[in-house]
Amino acid sequence: MALISKKFNDALNKQIKEELDSGYLYLSMSYWLEEKAYHNLANWYYLQAQEEYIHAKKFMDYIVETGGIVELLGLAKPKSDWESIKQIIDAGYKHEQHITGKIVALVKLSEEISEFQARTLLQWFIDEQIEEEANATELIDKHAGYKNDMLFDQHTQRVAATPSE
Ligand code: FEO
Repeated sequence: MALISKKFNDALNKQIKEELDSGYLYLSMSYWLEEKAYHNLANWYYLQAQEEYIHAKKFMDYIVETGGIVELLGLAKPKSDWESIKQIIDAGYKHEQHITGKIVALVKLSEEISEFQARTLLQWFIDEQIEEEANATELIDKHAGYKNDMLFDQHTQRVAATPSE
C-alpha cells in the first residue's frame, strides 16, 4: 500500500512539470543571452536551469519512496525571444513568484488531505522559494545600479549549486 495518496501523487506530477518547465524557460533565457554575448548572465540562467532539474528530481524521488508513480507530463514551449536583459530578469522573478504560489498550494492541499509525511519535503521547497525569490530580486536590484548591460553582465557571477540545493 502506497504511503502517498493518488490525489497528492497527481499534484506532485504536475509540480514536476512546473519545475521542468522552469528549467526549460531558464535554458531558453540562457541561450538568448549567450547569443547576445552576455556570457555571465547566460551562465547564471544555465545554472538556474540545472537547479530546476534538481527540484524536479526531489519530487520524483519522493514519489518513488512513498510508493507512487512518476508520470512525466508534456512541457510547455518556453518564450524564446526577449527585448532586453531587464525583460529577462523581471520575467525570472515573476516566474519564481508563480512557482512559490504552486508550492503554497501544495502545502494547503497536503493539509486538507492529511498528507503529513510530505511536511519535510514541502518545508524544503518553502525555504527554497524564499531563496529563489531573493536571488531573482537581487539581480533586479543590481541591474538597476548599472547604465550598461555589458558591464552588469561582467559583474554577475554565480557558482553551481550542490545537488542538495
Ligand atoms: Fe524550482 Fe526556481 O523554483
